[in-house]
Amino acid sequence: MGRKLKCEANAPVRVGLIGAGGMAKYHVAGFRKAGAEIVAIADPDPAAAEEAAAAFDVTQVYETAEEMIARTKLDAVSVITPNKFHCPLVLLAIKAGKHVFCEKPPALNAREATLMARAAKKSRRVLMFDFNNRARPESMALKAAIAHGDAGRINSAQAVWIRRTGIPGFGGWFTTKAMSGGGPVIDLLHMTDLALHFMGYPEPKHVLAATFRDFINDRRFKGPWGIPDTAGGVCDVEAAAQGFVTFKNGSTLYLRSSWAEMNKREEVSVTFQGTTAGGMVRRFFGQDGIDATAEDTCEMYFQDASGARKDKTLSVAKDVDMGRVRAAENFVLTLQRKEKPLNTPDEAVKLMKIIDAIYASAKTGAPVRIR
Ligand SMILES: NC(=O)c1ccc[n+]([C@@H]2O[C@H](COP(=O)([O-])OP(=O)(O)OC[C@H]3O[C@@H](n4cnc5c(N)ncnc54)[C@H](O)[C@@H]3O)[C@@H](O)[C@H]2O)c1
Repeated sequence: MGRKLKCEANAPVRVGLIGAGGMAKYHVAGFRKAGAEIVAIADPDPAAAEEAAAAFDVTQVYETAEEMIARTKLDAVSVITPNKFHCPLVLLAIKAGKHVFCEKPPALNAREATLMARAAKKSRRVLMFDFNNRARPESMALKAAIAHGDAGRINSAQAVWIRRTGIPGFGGWFTTKAMSGGGPVIDLLHMTDLALHFMGYPEPKHVLAATFRDFINDRRFKGPWGIPDTAGGVCDVEAAAQGFVTFKNGSTLYLRSSWAEMNKREEVSVTFQGTTAGGMVRRFFGQDGIDATAEDTCEMYFQDASGARKDKTLSVAKDVDMGRVRAAENFVLTLQRKEKPLNTPDEAVKLMKIIDAIYASAKTGAPVRIR
């Protein structure tokens, strides 16, 4: 990687968790799988911190990240908080010399992501984000086939994460733009990232997009995850969006994301068209998440010299967690120099520039140029 990492190969990496919410369990499982030690947890909510400490068998609990970093010996931290805190906490940890694994989205916007990327580069710390969908067996198999040249040059892709009834609570941090940065465009940015990953993260040029707020205050469209509503809170984000991105190399990306809209079922997919093959990774969720009606597909589409179709199903292990454990494992294995990082801060900056441009275009109704 050309960087000197502080953690020696095979020495246990010591990690502290910042944020004890719903995603922490995947981080813990992935870090431990790679041999890391979970040393401490910081969360301003004492009940959440204590519950996580008991569940993960961690003895040191702190109210703030500052205190945890000052009082414990850590190689790395994991930032698992509402989006607004990603940038300040990542900057704090990097300044203290820690490597960082941060939940998605990288930040509220490209300006913050740029600050984070610059800080990591300057301090020679590893900064990775939880783009767990890149770590799914399906995505790994497709990326390997693309890297092998099987698809030729990818000239277009479509990224879709659409839900019918998926508003994550009314009035909490998810639906408050100042806390989250936005609705499904930023929350479900995984498929946009995955499409860009398959395409080799080309330089974006223009974005034209529209967002919709239908159903954002409609209780019939609440998601099933048990996230509580907050009395007096706001829902000032979009419920759905469509966008089109052009790239300097001539390729294009269509994207669609929603928490609430009149579609049949939840779909999570990337489809791409290359000069020698196309491909698709797709999950249709069932009525209750992963149930008997859920469907996973991972395929490539070829045509031989005679014109015959030679389509292929890529057979991979089932991963109901959508790469969440594997992505965290990759972070520790990167620190141990056993694997390459599955994503980089520069990619995060490019992704956030596209997200910013989606919101800017939706506001004016005009295409936005990305520089
Ligand atoms: N990769 C994925 O599949 C996935 C899925 C869900 C959520 N997420 C992301 O994970 C992050 C956390 O989401 P969640 O669902 O776990 O949220 P959550 O609301 O369940 O938990 C967040 C926790 O962070 C704590 N917190 C708030 N400010 C803090 C601070 N300054 N320092 C320490 N802790 C603080 C809160 O008290 C809470 O316990 C978000 O960025 C979200 O976008 C990712």
